[in-house]
Amino acid sequence: MQRRHFILSMLSAGLAGPLRSITGQAKPVTIRSGQPLRALPKLLNQSKAPGVFEASLTAAPARLAVGAGQQTEFWAYNGIIPGPLIEATAGDRVRILFENRIPGQVSTIHWHGMPVPAAEDGNPMNPVASGSRHVYEFVLPADSAGSYWYHPHPHRLSAEQVYRGLAGAFIVNPKTDPLPRDIHHITAFITDLRLSATGAIPVDDMVDLMNGREGDHLLVNGQRNPVLTVAPGSTCRFRLFNATNARYLRLAFEDHEMTLIGTDGGYVETPVLGLREILLAPAERADVIVTFRPGAGRTVALQTLPYERGWMGGGKPPSQTLSLLTVRLAGAPIEAAALPTKLRKIEELGTPGAIKRLEFDEPTKVGGGMAMQFLINGKTFQMGRVDLTTKAGQVELWEVVNRTDMDHPFHLHGTQFQVTERERNGSKTMAPYLAWKDTVNIATAETVRFKVRQDMKGLRMYHCHILEHEDQGMMGLLDVT
Ligand code: C2O
Ligand code: CU
Ligand code: CU
Repeated sequence: MQRRHFILSMLSAGLAGPLRSITGQAKPVTIRSGQPLRALPKLLNQSKAPGVFEASLTAAPARLAVGAGQQTEFWAYNGIIPGPLIEATAGDRVRILFENRIPGQVSTIHWHGMPVPAAEDGNPMNPVASGSRHVYEFVLPADSAGSYWYHPHPHRLSAEQVYRGLAGAFIVNPKTDPLPRDIHHITAFITDLRLSATGAIPVDDMVDLMNGREGDHLLVNGQRNPVLTVAPGSTCRFRLFNATNARYLRLAFEDHEMTLIGTDGGYVETPVLGLREILLAPAERADVIVTFRPGAGRTVALQTLPYERGWMGGGKPPSQTLSLLTVRLAGAPIEAAALPTKLRKIEELGTPGAIKRLEFDEPTKVGGGMAMQFLINGKTFQMGRVDLTTKAGQVELWEVVNRTDMDHPFHLHGTQFQVTERERNGSKTMAPYLAWKDTVNIATAETVRFKVRQDMKGLRMYHCHILEHEDQGMMGLLDVT
């Protein structure tokens, strides 16, 4: 099957309703909430050598009790969801032995956002067969500290492997950290999960294939609305990860402003103060500081607010505010920590030597009805076909145009880029600060421009990070020569 067409008229005729109720929305499973937030278990470094991180990750079915009184079969890295937290230091050599024990499916591990050689990046061209092993090896460059993540990237199977539980955080720490030690560090790895009435994970339905799958249960570190207890006045650093297949997170802390200190590719130059909310499209990360004012109330919720991302056909989830995490203020008030004014130096990418234009295309008319195809520059992904080429070391300006009726998060492998401006309905907005990004949301009818330079040769993917769209071909190959 080369292309899959999804008939909008079928969806609007109500097919989505009955399909969805079979998958369990009618009788939702309950997941216990209000448990203390757990820290992500760390992947143990098995190497004794300094500057070497060595470990193994096995992807395999795992039965875990998530729903009240029920067991769910996930696919998990080392038996846990999310996968173990990998924490290494810039400059380290990383060696990870991957074993694929997913029955009947190839897999890979992709190091999302990390500057690793193309051959080590878990591309769909390098599948690891079910029942076999592969060693990924790379050196983390000196200035590569940031909040990354890892997930499978096999051809047409990424969405399923991720919604069944395969994803984890990969934090690269700087050799010397500009942040003071009295800041409380929290890693919040956000996923969403759909469970049928029997506690099983159902496959994607038509609505999911069209819009990307949104699970019914929002989870932070695998828990539903857990509780984090801190002293009033505490300064907390939250590394926030959107590891959902397709859900937009418009994040806000009740009555508290956030200070942005980092994006996908690590620290910004200077803290960005006074943010009421942050939009995290699928695959994006944000590193924020919040100081919980004494007397601000006994609890402060981290919420996700409604966001209109454009929806095709029926089955649209209700637009609502949901609580992700509850911060409980308890104990004697403490002094807020002071933030440095300078976090790092970001070299601005220079004058572009070339311009590339990428277009996310509109649905096309096929036969009698409307059909949805997920295209970039009029094409669906084809293994082995190079779509774009660039020279290693050359700065380019990319403009990504979204001509569809929904938002798509654009992601590029192999490097980090610098967004320069956004354009919508003829009005341009300059990027408010310099930051390293590997994923950027392109809203409907919007054009986003960014500067980018690839430093390593090889084949790199670029794609929409709504994983169902990626699997259906909203992806291309860039050859860096
Ligand atoms: Cu997070 Cu190509 O992927
Ligand atoms: Cu990636
Ligand atoms: Cu998309």
